[in-house]
Amino acid sequence: MHQGKCLLFFAVLMAVIPAAQSELPEVRQQQLVHLLRHDCGSCHGMTLKGGLGPSLLPGQIRSSDPAYLRQIITYGIPGSAMPPWQPLLSADDIDFLVETLIHLPAETD
Ligand code: HEC
Repeated sequence: MHQGKCLLFFAVLMAVIPAAQSELPEVRQQQLVHLLRHDCGSCHGMTLKGGLGPSLLPGQIRSSDPAYLRQIITYGIPGSAMPPWQPLLSADDIDFLVETLIHLPAETD
């Protein structure tokens, strides 16, 4: 049964993010986690350790100030490959990504 495995996969992902702190429906949260891994991950690495873009893991990111992260995700970084996400994501979506980034488990190795 593939469905069980898929649910387990989401359960693991959702466990590392502060689901209870978000007002967003769980389905939207799952979509955003997917976006973080695949869309943000296409530049920042699937595990967000860095690639074309820098690592987004705690301790490696320049700042974990929510206002800083919200600003960058909303407007991008002009003159760099970091695009603005305002055309695609709502303010609530971006707040959720910020919360998720802040609470990601730090790298253990
Ligand atoms: C097309 C490639 C690309 C995509 C897609 C992308 N980024 Fe970036 N991002 C970059 C680059 C390159 C930088 C570094 C720019 C610089 O500082 O000159 C950056 C920087 C950042 C920073 C600042 C990091 C720091 O330490 O200051 C954050 C936060 C960030 N990105 C979050 C995201 C999130 C969240 C997403 C998905 C919603 C995303 N990025 C998608 C390329 C990308």
